[in-house]
Amino acid sequence: MSSIKDKVCVVTGAAGILCSAMVEALLEDGAKVALLGRTESKLVDLKNALAKKGLTETLVVAADVLSSEDLLKAKASINETWGKVDILVNGAGGNHPDATSKAEQMLPETPLEDSFFGMSLDAFGFVFDLNFKGTLLPCQIFGKDMIDSGAGNIINISSMSADRPLTKVGAYSSAKASVDSLTQWLSVHLATRNIRVNALAPGFFVTGQNKFLLYQEDGETPTARGQKIINNTPMGEFGEPEDLKGAIKFLAGPASRFVTGVILPVDGGFSAFSGV
Ligand SMILES: NC(=O)c1ccc[n+]([C@@H]2O[C@H](COP(=O)([O-])OP(=O)(O)OC[C@H]3O[C@@H](n4cnc5c(N)ncnc54)[C@H](OP(=O)(O)O)[C@@H]3O)[C@@H](O)[C@H]2O)c1
Repeated sequence: MSSIKDKVCVVTGAAGILCSAMVEALLEDGAKVALLGRTESKLVDLKNALAKKGLTETLVVAADVLSSEDLLKAKASINETWGKVDILVNGAGGNHPDATSKAEQMLPETPLEDSFFGMSLDAFGFVFDLNFKGTLLPCQIFGKDMIDSGAGNIINISSMSADRPLTKVGAYSSAKASVDSLTQWLSVHLATRNIRVNALAPGFFVTGQNKFLLYQEDGETPTARGQKIINNTPMGEFGEPEDLKGAIKFLAGPASRFVTGVILPVDGGFSAFSGV
């Protein structure tokens, strides 16, 4: 029997393509999972889909990760139903098209608007708020339960783009790098209180937020960028959301008892490959 059995988890961005696979993994190992996101109907759909698979220990908590008020209400609802939060997965995150440069590099013929100079500050702000503040705030609010109970586990969701930034996605890369830094800083800060803080860094998975970068309009033919990624992934393919299940179970469970402050890639070898 897994010792995350009956642990109380919160997954933010729970209805997302990658996050819903992680939710399923935690439920399979016996945890109770609060499904947190802004759109209640998406969370209810997920709850129902999971119930059809016999995974029923879920609770829908509609909240915006950028609202302390929402998160405090969500925490109150979870505490009332199941007690204190043991495990937090900060899955809510993503990019914004206006924070993505059209050009990979600024060549002499590149129009200004297709380069860094055409990227909007507001869109940068959106991406930083969602990925960084949207991780920080749940750590502060749900982390209090972990301090109270003397143990806890936080898993942030990073990206391949954090360590060595990908072209075009300047805001997303910088924002995810800040998530990595926060992960390491917080792991040290909270180690004395028996709270572990790690991150999981997915490689390339096709989802709503990046499909326009990886596939052409037919939805089947990789873009030049998509093909470049596959060529630079030693395992030669995009990941499937299910590929994250083992890693989340490892970080959430007792097998990683002495692991804190790591950023674990699940990337088919992308981060290990120099391209030659
Ligand atoms: N896809 C990839 O290849 C890839 C690679 C590396 C890292 N990642 C990261 O993996 C994580 C999960 O990705 P995913 O593919 O599951 O995402 P996704 O499919 O784009 O879904 C994102 C989820 O987050 C929720 N969300 C967005 N803003 C929110 C907010 N302010 N408050 C609360 N919830 C919010 C959305 O629901 P609502 O709109 O209803 O709130 C949605 O359910 C993200 O951090 C992403 O950056 C993805």
